[in-house]
Formats: sequence, structure tokens, C-alpha cells
Amino acid sequence: MRIARKSPVEKHECKCGGRCGGAGAADAALESKYRIIFEQASDAIVTVTPDGLVDAVNNAAEEMTGWLKNELKGKPVTDLVPDPDRVHIPSRSRPLAREMFKIPGTYEDVAILRNDGYVRLVELSVRLVQTADAPALAVLRDMTEKKRMERELITKHAELRNAYVQLEKQNAERESMQQTLVQAGKMAALGELAAGIAHELNQPLQGIRGYAQELQAVALPLLRGREGASESEACLREVISSVDKMASIIDYLRAFTRKSTEHHEETDVHTAIEEALKMLARQFTARGIRVERGFAAALPRIYANPLQLEQVFINLATNARDAIEAAGRGSGVIRIATRRLDGRMIEISFSDDGAGMSERTRSKAFNPFFTTKEVGKGMGLGLSLSYGMVSKLHGSIVVESELGRGTTFVIRLPEDFRELG
Ligand SMILES: Nc1ncnc2c1ncn2[C@@H]1O[C@H](COP(=O)(O)OP(=O)(O)OP(=O)(O)O)[C@@H](O)[C@H]1O
Ligand SMILES: [Mg+2]
Repeated sequence: MRIARKSPVEKHECKCGGRCGGAGAADAALESKYRIIFEQASDAIVTVTPDGLVDAVNNAAEEMTGWLKNELKGKPVTDLVPDPDRVHIPSRSRPLAREMFKIPGTYEDVAILRNDGYVRLVELSVRLVQTADAPALAVLRDMTEKKRMERELITKHAELRNAYVQLEKQNAERESMQQTLVQAGKMAALGELAAGIAHELNQPLQGIRGYAQELQAVALPLLRGREGASESEACLREVISSVDKMASIIDYLRAFTRKSTEHHEETDVHTAIEEALKMLARQFTARGIRVERGFAAALPRIYANPLQLEQVFINLATNARDAIEAAGRGSGVIRIATRRLDGRMIEISFSDDGAGMSERTRSKAFNPFFTTKEVGKGMGLGLSLSYGMVSKLHGSIVVESELGRGTTFVIRLPEDFRELG
């Protein structure tokens, strides 16, 4: 390729003996300067003849194609076109085509074939130039590395996003585990407290019972026939029966804190529910509360302590009773449904259309001694004890509630917690 430009160069350096008037020397100097620029350009530069043959090539083109300059010169440009049947052409790129050298413009993601069989991705800029031998001047910028980095960046980005999602998941699991631990800690503290109270109260209670019986035996015969004798007798009977009630609560607390010696057996969940409902039947009728059952036809028995299970349902049912009463409509519905789950589990859902809970109440409902009920009506122990009993069976209990609409407790229990190890 000749690159010639006229330029006013004063110094006469050619060997024309002065005949060219200095212009030849200036041209020669300029051509050598342009040649250096052409050769040293960091982008590959190629000129192509109208017949599609490579004409001039610079150092970068040599490097990019792997061919030597003299091997490239005179070669059809089609020799640089990769055959998609023989080599892999990256997606979203297209193979070099001879037509590209006829239409000026910039072509992105063009695949060219190197002499070692590898494919490189280039950005191809074509200009039509006015020289006798080469109408097309093509600049090829190697984009293979850039494209590889782009792809790597996309992969890394996807990996990072996956890692982030994974981290979020782990975080949520950790938080729920933490909550379970906190609840377990509260239950342990409650257990110790209950055991302590049970122990401390039992002795004075037995003392009261003893003195009341003493009065029955000694004082009542002396009062016989006198005014107020029958009232005194009734009072003493009331004292003894109240003490007995307290003693049974203490027994219950003791049973709750006793860990390994509890008696478990194959237990029918529906029977435990029915027993609990039986205890509250009169109260339900008095408050216009209707119970709907959606029991599974063949619910498997579960390995549990039937009395404790019954106690859980009594706690839920009394809470539902109170919530329906608090709603003030004079009636309400409790719906209890059971179903079998995969993995040898069962589920009991216990809903009411009572007053519901605020978000704050819901978040504290399982806390020991948390109650919104007036003094004397609630101790705030029903749900935390229920939580403890369900946990002992390796089960879970969760609550959903909406103020003014109602509450649903969902209990999940394994058929046999011993299988879980
Ligand atoms: N079904 C329900 N509907 C609305 N609120 C409820 C329901 N169940 C429980 N709660 C709320 O959760 C609190 C704690 O319930 P929990 O059964 O532990 O204690 P309690 O009923 O207040 O007292 P206790 O059960 O010891 O008699 C209740 O005071 C009440 O605010
Ligand atoms: Mg309660």
C-alpha cells in the first residue's frame, strides 16, 4: 500500500539531483512516518482489494490472526471466516463475511478465524478508501478478552446474587432458631419457677388441709345444734375442696416440670379434643358458642401423653371462649380441623371468630405470665404451657390473628417423636 500526501517540506533530501524541487524527499519522509504509524497502531489494520484479497497488514493484524504478513498478503479474506460447523462461534456473535468489506460501517461481535484454529471476537470498522489498489480499509479491534470478562462479570454477578439469597435464607433460619431458643429458655425458667412454687406451696397447703380436717373432727361436734353450725360445716368443706383443687394444680405443675418420667402412649387426638370440649360444653352453650369440626377421616394416633394433649386443647378452647366473649356479639364459632401431613405428621388447626389480637399481643402471647385479661381471670400461662407441651412432643404451634376478625392456632405434631431421635 502506498500512502502518499503532498506537504510543504523545505529540506531537500531525495536523490533526484534537485529536479523534483524538494517535493520527493518530503513525500518520502511523510510516507515513512505514516508507515510507522500504520505498523505500530495498536488496532489491527487491513486493506482489502475489490476482489476480496488482503492487501496490506500491520503488526497488530499479524498478531491477531496468527498469520505472518507475507502469508496474509494476497490471501482471500474468506480464509478468515470461521466455519460454524467446525468451530464454536460464541452466541450473540456472527462470523466475518466478505460483504462487510463492501459496505462501510462498524460491525460488532464479529468472529474471525486465526491460523491456529481459534476464534477471536472483533469489532470491525470498514471505510472505503480512494487508492488504486485497495478500496476497503478495515480496522479490527480485538474484543475477545473484553467479551470474556463481560461474561465472567455476568457469571460472578449471578453467583453473588445467589450467595446473597442464600445468606438471606440462612439469616431467616438463624432468626427463627434464635426465637425458638429464647422461647425454650423462657420455658426452662418457667419450669424451674413452677417446680419451686409447687414445692413451697405444697407443705403449707397440706397444713391448711390438716387443720381444716381437725376442725371438722373437733369443733363441728361442739357446734352441733347451735346457730351457724351448718354454715360452718359448709365453709370447712369448701376450704378442704379448694385446697384439693390447689393441690391438683400443684400436681399438674410438678408433672409439667418432670421430664423423662412422663407417661406416653398411642393417643387418639380426636378423643383428646372431645374430652376438652366436654369440659367446656356448658360454658359454650351459655355464651352461644358453636363448635364446628372438620376432622380427618383416618387420623393416625400419635405417641403422646393424653392428659397433656387434652390440657393443650383446654387452654386453646378457654382462650377462644374468652376472645368470643370479648368480641361482645353474644355468640361465636370455634372451628377445629385435623389433617394428616406428609412425613408422618399431623396438623390441628383451632380457629375462633373472637376479638383477635393486636400485633403486639400476638408477638407476646406465648410468653409466660403474659396476659391481657383482668386480674384473677388470666394468669398468662395457658399458651406458654401449651407451647412447652407441644415442644416436648417435637411439634410446633404457631398463631395467626387479626384484630376484630379472629384467631387461628396451628399445631403440627409427629406421629411418633421417638422416630426423630
Ligand atoms: N384465641 C385468642 N384470641 C385472642 N387473644 C388470645 C387468644 N388466645 C390467647 N390470646 C391472648 O394471649 C394472651 C395469653 O394467653 P394465655 O392463654 O397464655 O394466657 P391467659 O389466657 O391470659 O391466661 P391463662 O391461660 O393463664 O388463664 C391472652 O391474655 C390473650 O391476650
Ligand atoms: Mg389462656
